[in-house]
This record gives sequence, C-alpha cells and structure tokens, in this order.
Amino acid sequence: DRIEGKASELTQRIDTVTGGRRMRRLRRTDWARRLVRETSLSINDLIWPIFVVDGNNIVKPVASMPGVHRYSVDRAVDAAREAADLGIPVLALFPYTDPSRRDEAGSEAYNPDNLVCRATRAIKAAIPDIGIMCDVALDPYTSHGHDGLMEGETILNDPTVEALCRQALVQAEAGCDIIGPSDMMDGRVSLIRETLDGHGLRDTLIMSYAAKYASAFYAPFRDAVGSASMLKGDKRTYQMDYGNGDEALREAAQDIAEGADMIMVKPGLPYLDILTRLKAEFSMPTFAYQTSGEYAMMMAAVGNGWLDEERGTMEVLTAYKRAGADGILTYFAPKVAARLKAR
Ligand code: PBG
Repeated sequence: DRIEGKASELTQRIDTVTGGRRMRRLRRTDWARRLVRETSLSINDLIWPIFVVDGNNIVKPVASMPGVHRYSVDRAVDAAREAADLGIPVLALFPYTDPSRRDEAGSEAYNPDNLVCRATRAIKAAIPDIGIMCDVALDPYTSHGHDGLMEGETILNDPTVEALCRQALVQAEAGCDIIGPSDMMDGRVSLIRETLDGHGLRDTLIMSYAAKYASAFYAPFRDAVGSASMLKGDKRTYQMDYGNGDEALREAAQDIAEGADMIMVKPGLPYLDILTRLKAEFSMPTFAYQTSGEYAMMMAAVGNGWLDEERGTMEVLTAYKRAGADGILTYFAPKVAARLKAR
C-alpha cells in the first residue's frame, strides 16, 4: 500500500514543488532536533559581571537591573564561590565608587587598595581557580563620569593612556587574570601590554573592548556604578558611531596588532553583524557583552509577563554563539549556568 502510494493530489503537488525534500522531517522529534543542532550554549561560554561596593555583608539590588546586586567584598567572595561551583570560568568585577572617592583625574583607579583590587585579592585567595577580569577605564572613578582625563570639553587621549597603564598594573598585581580595556583610547592596548611585561606580568591576558559603540544600552550599568548622575555629555568622541561596521574591523585589527589576546564587541544583540564579521575576519577568541540595557529590556518584559525568561535568555545567548561569539559577558550567567547544569 505504502509502496503503491495513495498520495492525494495535494500531496503529490507538494512532493513536486519540494522535490520530496521535506525540511520538517528533522524537526519532528526532540532527539532529532538535538542531534542536528549546530550551536549549543555551554557554561564554559559564560562570563559573569558583578558589581562590588564598600562595606560588609551588603547585597544591594540595582533598581534598573532586577535580579542584579552590588556585593561587598565578603559577599563577592560568596558570589565567586557560587560561580565556581556552577563552573562559570570568569567573573568580571566592576566597582561602585563612593562620590567622595571620585576626582577629576580618577586617581582612585590606580590606588592599589581600591575596591576592585581588594575584591580581586579576596576572591583569588578564597577561590584560586576562577578567572578574574577587571575593566580598565576611568569612569567609575572620575567626578565627570568620563572614561578619560578631561581638558575643558575634550577627553585627552595620551595622558589617559598613561593613567590606564597604571590602573592595569595595580589590577594585574592584585591578581587579575584578564585586563579588559573598555575606554576606547588609541594606543592603550600596546602600552598596557608593555607596562605589564615590564613588570614581569607576561601571563596576564588582555581582552580588548575592540568594537565598543556609543550606546544607549549602558544606562543601567551607569546607575550600578554610580556614574549616571555624574556624566557630563556623552561618550561619542571615543566610543564608536553605531552606523559604522567597517570601522569595527579597523579597530579590531589595531588592537590585535597591539597585542590583544581576545577581542570583544559591545553591546551585543544590536551588533551581532559586527560579531560575525570580526570572527570571520580575524579568527580570534571573540566575545560579546550582553549589556545592562539589554538585560534591563528583557527583564522589564519578563516582569510584565510578556517574555518567558528561561526561553528568552537561552534563545538570545545561543544567537550570540551562532553569530560567532566564543563567550558572552552576561548578567544572566548564574541563572543560565544553574539551568544548564541541571539538564
Ligand atoms: C566602562 C564600562 C561601561 C560598561 C562596561 N564598562 C559603561 C560605559 O562605557 O559607559 C557597560 C556595561 C553594561 O552596560 O552592562 N567604560
């Protein structure tokens, strides 16, 4: 009977137009979908950014980022232990700096006892096996909220690079494994590399924010680190224009030539095309930052019952990987890791 075929006229027509190639065959069962799946998210792909704050036993919610907190150093150590137990490879540390510790020059950035350095030392002492990444940029420390030194309205490039080198050095000396220059000054990667090497820190990695765009999607982060109310103007004289794609290739080529071990695209979701282009062009370990604004946008929808958090995050983070990311900085890291681990 089956060999004879009793296909209706409709079925015969569909067999003709498809040439018998029915794409849905591979989607019928869960096992087949799993078998042919091209991209899968793994715990090894996750970098968890956390915010640290002065004090003791503090876990304070960030209003614009539901589910995200600022941790005092002791509680950051607990968070690091949780991350390590989940198998998350790297934590990225960002400080909330009290306004009293901010100045025009952002000099707290290269205080070897600043919050980030203390947190790095404490985490490294308690959980030596988790990677620690620290941001290099002056904005958590400046009274004007910019990533560099200012003269009038101008962000000065070269003197800023000197300050960034000092910042990178105190972080690396505190035990930071990955230096993440997020400032977008010219020449900073090579001068930071030179500074680290000059102090015997040849194993410290550099993940450069190679293509970092002047974006609306950093707003909740600026709340979290306390720069939002401080920021005068915008960052368009150093962060990239969102209309540009080719320029991201030139930025990345420059950072790679200067010694970056890994490169990053930021923000993530609106820039997946940039991610794909950089990965294809350079074959470097390439990362994406799912920014605070992307997180806030999803959580706002989740809070309203308009988006399923678990399905939404898995879909978006898998899309980052499909686009070419080797890993993702994401505030969803512990939740996603816990779900992946439970599978
Ligand atoms: C500091 C820095 C920013 C972010 C990471 N490092 C903010 C900015 O450049 O204004 C944003 C992170 C996020 O939005 O999640 N230069």
